[in-house]
Amino acid sequence: MKGSDSHLAEVRAYHQRSKHQPQRYAAGPGQLDWESQPNPFRRYAGAPVVSLPLLADTLATPFADLDTPDCVPPRPFDAAQVALLFELALGLAAWKEYQGVRWALRCNPSSGNLHPTEGYAILPSLEATWPAGPLTYAARGPLAAGVYHYSSRDHILEARLRHPLFAEQLPRSTFLVGLSSVHWREAWKYGERSYRYCQLDVGHAVAAVRYAAAALGWKATLLLDPADADISALLGLRQNATPEAEHEHPDLLLLIQTDAGPRSHLPRERILTLLQGITTERWQGVPNALSRTHAHAWPIIDQVAIAAGKPATSEGIWHPDPLPPLDSDPTAAGPHAATLIRQRRSGQSYDPTATLPAIDFFRLLDPLLPRAGVPPWDALPWSPRIHPVFFVHRVVGLDPGIYLLVREAESQPLLKATLSAAFAWEKPAGCPEHLPFFMLTRRDMQGSAQALSCHQEIAADGIFSLGMLADYAAALQAGAWHYRRLFWEAGMLGQLLYLEAERIGRRGTGIGCFFDDSFHDLLGLADDRFQSLYHFTVGQAIEDERLTTLPAYAFHGAT
Ligand SMILES: Cc1cc2nc3c(=O)[nH]c(=O)nc-3n(C[C@H](O)[C@H](O)[C@H](O)COP(=O)(O)O)c2cc1C
Repeated sequence: MKGSDSHLAEVRAYHQRSKHQPQRYAAGPGQLDWESQPNPFRRYAGAPVVSLPLLADTLATPFADLDTPDCVPPRPFDAAQVALLFELALGLAAWKEYQGVRWALRCNPSSGNLHPTEGYAILPSLEATWPAGPLTYAARGPLAAGVYHYSSRDHILEARLRHPLFAEQLPRSTFLVGLSSVHWREAWKYGERSYRYCQLDVGHAVAAVRYAAAALGWKATLLLDPADADISALLGLRQNATPEAEHEHPDLLLLIQTDAGPRSHLPRERILTLLQGITTERWQGVPNALSRTHAHAWPIIDQVAIAAGKPATSEGIWHPDPLPPLDSDPTAAGPHAATLIRQRRSGQSYDPTATLPAIDFFRLLDPLLPRAGVPPWDALPWSPRIHPVFFVHRVVGLDPGIYLLVREAESQPLLKATLSAAFAWEKPAGCPEHLPFFMLTRRDMQGSAQALSCHQEIAADGIFSLGMLADYAAALQAGAWHYRRLFWEAGMLGQLLYLEAERIGRRGTGIGCFFDDSFHDLLGLADDRFQSLYHFTVGQAIEDERLTTLPAYAFHGAT
């Protein structure tokens, strides 16, 4: 078998083996070994620390303004605004406390709140001026060009490498955000299925960065061409690594553009020039070990990570067809983006009687379609590969049943040919013309949705829940690394639903635990052309009054 064919076979085999089934869950640790619970915060001991200001309360951008391209005037490109981007994308949103146990929640969600995703900034030299606050030191003067690791717990940047080349090679008014994953953090709890969760979390983080950038009037674009090896070298993921410190796997780079001009581009050659220029440099800081022991090794995770590793590519950029603008009411005050982003939470349980008018439901579906200049999809330079299948439980004006949103018109004939021949494909009354949304079958799906979602009640008690069907086999034919991209797109879809649910006073929850093939059977899928990668529910959440909520940076500086 050729190398790429064997990688593809390994990825497909991993996907098959990591499916949950009603009679057999994917291999996991069984009982949790609390002794080896991973630290959710990576630090680089010895790296110089830049203590960032907390500015989210000062940002008044209405969330609704993000619906219209170029509506938000770009904020100045300085270190304070970069700090704001990280605060809103990957920063802490609150602490929760129950019976003496305290845990942090972040703007980006994570399966099991384990947070495998690490964030980096690659910056040119920037003006860094802010007054001393209760939580920060005063800053004055420039922040040197270089590679910085973001640590959300203390809202700091750790300087891993400072070098003027980083300023020279970045296009004007841009910087990079890099993401990597510590697979161990998820594997500790979820075993073999956890590689999928890491990828979904990356997708959530991409969308979180994109929304945060949009709130500042900035753009963000995922770079298609770099190889994983380029990203690893650029972020210094192997630099000063010790055998004890769990490895971070390189995921992706986002080019953040802070001016209003046409989209900038960063060719891979520039990254290679940069890498050549820093080969002999000394990196600062030693990564911390996150667990004292590792009871399980989960070798399949390392194998699939290699098989789904990305080589360098030269790919074209996809542009969406024009659509009517999003129907947001510019006169309605609406919440600030910074408020909505930080209030996002996962519902733990839902009111099983709550409803939603169809008009609000259709409005919530609309941003799932990609539009030029509208977050989060304008960060993705590829055509949509994920089509959400909805279990509509209690939308007033829609019959309960299974519905499908076709996010890419060209996929419709194949979906029609592949899904159950018994499906009706009826456009519901009142559905906007441009929304390719179809009723497939009328049926009460509450019991099925719960059973499919590892028996979790949230899938039945939500107003609606959904599974994200990926155009799986075709995507993987283009390269085994597309496996990860499918999950990233699904994670972005989840992040969008979290925020859109908050916008209409409801709440969402990601559902990583579901019985893959039971869902496929329900849809009449006989092969792996389409595979569901992520489930989700939206409803009226019931707050758990037993938990105490504390401010995001209440424990800043405490050990
Ligand atoms: C990829 C992913 C999968 C998840 N799967 C489930 C799930 O199956 N059941 C559930 O109750 N919550 C699930 N969650 C929600 C997480 O538990 C939640 O995001 C985490 O505890 C952090 O809380 P927060 O979202 O309120 O910040 C999932 C979240 C993500 C991002």
